[in-house]
Amino acid sequence: MLTGRHIVLGVTGGIAAYKSAHLVRELIRGGAEVQVVMTHAATQFITPLTLSTLSRREVIVEMFPPSPDQPTMQWTKHIDIALWGDVMLVAPASANTIAKIACGMADNFLTTLVLALRCPLVLAPSMDVDMYGNEATQRNIAALRESGCHIIEPESGELASGLHGAGRLPDVDHLVKELAKVLESAHRDFRGKRVLVTAGPTHEAIDPIRYISNRSSGKMGFALAAAAAQRGADVTLISGPVHLQTPLTVRRIDVTTAHEMAAAVEREFPAADLLVMAAAVADFSPAHASATKIKREEQTGDSMTLTLSKVPDILKAIAPSKGKRVVVGFALETDDGVASAQRKLAAKNLDFIVLNNPRDAGAGFGVDTNIVTIIRPDAKPEQLPRAPKIDVAHAILTRAVPLLQ
Ligand SMILES: Cc1cc2nc3c(=O)[nH]c(=O)nc-3n(C[C@H](O)[C@H](O)[C@H](O)COP(=O)(O)O)c2cc1C
Repeated sequence: MLTGRHIVLGVTGGIAAYKSAHLVRELIRGGAEVQVVMTHAATQFITPLTLSTLSRREVIVEMFPPSPDQPTMQWTKHIDIALWGDVMLVAPASANTIAKIACGMADNFLTTLVLALRCPLVLAPSMDVDMYGNEATQRNIAALRESGCHIIEPESGELASGLHGAGRLPDVDHLVKELAKVLESAHRDFRGKRVLVTAGPTHEAIDPIRYISNRSSGKMGFALAAAAAQRGADVTLISGPVHLQTPLTVRRIDVTTAHEMAAAVEREFPAADLLVMAAAVADFSPAHASATKIKREEQTGDSMTLTLSKVPDILKAIAPSKGKRVVVGFALETDDGVASAQRKLAAKNLDFIVLNNPRDAGAGFGVDTNIVTIIRPDAKPEQLPRAPKIDVAHAILTRAVPLLQ
């Protein structure tokens, strides 16, 4: 799995940086080409000379040449290496670098390179038990996982500080195995494909203060965008209002209403090879949004009537221009799921539809897992087991691949 693969190894300022010498040796021994990049702090723990000798390549620490008059390196090396890599592993990944990557910062060579990556990013956090358990670190790791990074969990045990707990960098053999797994699963089968994904809910205004919406968190759509990007696609994500981080390398268009979502899909669809409509777009919106706040005192009696009108169906609208494009819909049903998904599949000229039921434990809105059934024309429904949304996203994309040929 490692033979001939291009591995970018990021080393940050953690006590476990000494293990990166052994890691480089094992990767080279496995037949990989290894480009090491280090933070300044990492050079306090292990020298670039050691890692460049073992990797047989210049180790990069500096973002800028020492003197503009005497450039010793090409100016766009961070981009060149980002494009060269088949995978990037940051091991050890310090709390500081994890936080910077989670925020999208680019204040040194390593973090700038990460922002330009087109290949999978694997982080192996390693730090003191309390730094690892700290809410901010956990939040950053969760956000990175959500945006498609692979995280190699640290081990528990005795730490350099003498304390016990989680935070130890796993053995080199384990790191190499995990990296090989990522390389194996990182099919670049979407390279050159343009994938359009919609995600999240829409907000339909009642007045300037209130709106009608639904419980969609956007997690499934964001997982699909992350998975397609990991597999080499050029991804555009049209998102309703959500609180999620944009997956690496994904172009994001934010919309609020169903009408805005429809306009964005109609505009982007002609350039797409695959459209996955994971957004929970409103079916109805207030017929007339009030320009000013509707006042309680102005309503007579105990009730108020709100007239809703049907929102134009996005999938029906684009169906005539479908051509060879693959279109995948989502159906969220609480009852009579398979039959209504099959009706939707036919009515909207979809290639397949992904059905889920928010009443199933571990499926639907807000949770990190999903249980879906794939409904295709003229085939038996295929129920997939409960799995993290990123894995469900990969399963959905895998089923779209043969249709894209
Ligand atoms: C002796 C020593 C050991 C350290 N070990 C770690 C560590 O294992 N993990 C970590 O996140 N930070 C560790 N730090 C703190 C980092 O070096 C520090 O946060 C630094 O700013 C990280 O910079 P970088 O992310 O750019 O590499 C250690 C600091 C010292 C002095």
